Amino acid sequence: MERFRVVGGARLSGVVKVAGAKNSALKLMAATLLAPGKSTITNLPNIADVEYMAELLTRLGCTVKIDMAQSQVSIDVPEQITYRADYDLVRKLRASINVLGPLLTRVKKAEVALPGGDAIGSRGLDFHIDGLTQMGAQVHSEHGYVIAEAPNGLTGAAITLDFPSVGATENIMTAATLAKGVTVIDNAAREPDVVDLGEFLIAMGAKISGLGSHTIEITGVANLKPATHATLPDRIVAGTWAFAAAMTRGDITIENGRADHLELPLDKLVAAGAVVTTTKGGFRVKMDRRPSSVDVATLPYPGFPTDLQPMVITLNAIADGTSLVTENVFEGRFMFVNELLRLGAKISVDGHHAAITGIEQLSAAPVAATDIRAGAGLVLAALVSDGETIIEDGFHIDRGYPDFAKQLTQLGADVTRI
Ligand code: UD1
Repeated sequence: MERFRVVGGARLSGVVKVAGAKNSALKLMAATLLAPGKSTITNLPNIADVEYMAELLTRLGCTVKIDMAQSQVSIDVPEQITYRADYDLVRKLRASINVLGPLLTRVKKAEVALPGGDAIGSRGLDFHIDGLTQMGAQVHSEHGYVIAEAPNGLTGAAITLDFPSVGATENIMTAATLAKGVTVIDNAAREPDVVDLGEFLIAMGAKISGLGSHTIEITGVANLKPATHATLPDRIVAGTWAFAAAMTRGDITIENGRADHLELPLDKLVAAGAVVTTTKGGFRVKMDRRPSSVDVATLPYPGFPTDLQPMVITLNAIADGTSLVTENVFEGRFMFVNELLRLGAKISVDGHHAAITGIEQLSAAPVAATDIRAGAGLVLAALVSDGETIIEDGFHIDRGYPDFAKQLTQLGADVTRI
C-alpha cells in the first residue's frame, strides 16, 4: 500500500511541468480501436491508469508498446478484435467504458463490465445507453456487464443529453464516426478533453463539427485510418499546482499549463488574493498573504471543475473568512470533507453544499485518500498543516498525478512516499 508522508510548512516555489491529461490520454487510447493499423499517442502521462488501459487494449487483441522515456504509446490494432472488457480491469478504471462506442461501431458488439472507478457518486450509464439505443443498438445488462449489439451497424440520430456528460458525449461521438448518416449531439459536453478526442478522430478521417460547443455534428464515414496525436496538457493537474501555490503562499510557474482552460479557477485564485500571470509556455501563480475565502459552485466546463473542488475546499479551510462550495456534478464528492475534518477544518455539509469557516492552520493527522482528486487535495491540506501527515491509499494519487512526490520535493515541500 502506497502512502504519502507530508510535513507541512513549506512555501512552494519553482517551476513544474505539466504532462498530458489523464482524462484525454485514456480516451485517445480507447479510440485507436476504431482503425486497424498503428496509432501513436504522444505526451502521455506516466500514471497507473495508462497501464490499465494498455492491458485492456491488449486483451482486445492489440499490440501495445508504452515508451515512457519518450512519453508515448503505440497501439497496433488488428483487423479482428474481440469485444469483451473484463470486470477486473474495468473496476480499476472508469474510463474503460470508453471502449463501448468504438467496439460497438467497429465490431458491432461490446460487452463491458459495469464500471467501479472512483468512489464519487452514482455515475450512471443511462445517457450512454440511451444515445447508443437511439442509434439502433440493442443494449441490456447481464451478470454485471453492459451487452450492446448492433448487428446491422449503427445509424445517425439526433440525441439530446439530459446533462452534458463527458463520457456519454465521448461514447456517442466515437460510435457516430462509423455510423450510417449524421448524428447530432445536443447539450454535448464542452470539456477540452472532448475537443482533444474529437481532433484525434478528425485526424483519423472522421467528419466532426461543433467541437467545444453545445452541439456536435458527426457524419459517419466507411472507415478510419490510424493517426498520431499529442495529448493536451492536464488542466486539473495544472489547476492543482495553482491552488498549491496560493495555499502555501508560494510562487509556482506551471509550464505547459493552459490558463485558457482554467479561466474560472484562476479568477477565483485572483479573488483569493493571488497574482496570476501568463508566461511563455504556461502561467505563474504567486501569493504573499493568507488567502481570502471564495464561494464556488462546480459545473460542467467552462464552469468550475468538480475535479478541483477538493482543492478549493482545502484553500477555503485555511482562508480568511467563511465560504460556500456547492457541488453540482457528483453527489458523493464531499466524502473527502470527513478526512479534512480530521485535520481540524471547520466545515459543515448539507446536501450538496459545504459551508467552510477558515482557520489559520490545519493540524496534522493520519488521513486516507478516497479518490484521485481527494488524494491530491489532502496532500495540499497536509502542506498547510502543522506537523506530519500520513495519507493512506496513495495509489489513488498515482492514478492521476505523475511523479507527484518528486515534483513537490523539487518545489521545496517535505514529502516522501512510504
Ligand atoms: C469525467 C472525468 C471526471 C470528471 C467528470 C466531470 C474521466 C475518466 N473522468 O467523468 O474526472 O470529474 O468527467 O467533469 O474523464 N451521469 C449520469 N448518467 C450517465 C452519465 C453521467 O447520470 O449516463 C451523471 C454522473 O453520475 C455525474 C454527471 O452525470 O453525476 C457527470 O458525469 P460525466 O460528465 O459523465 O463524468 P465522467 O465522464 O464519468
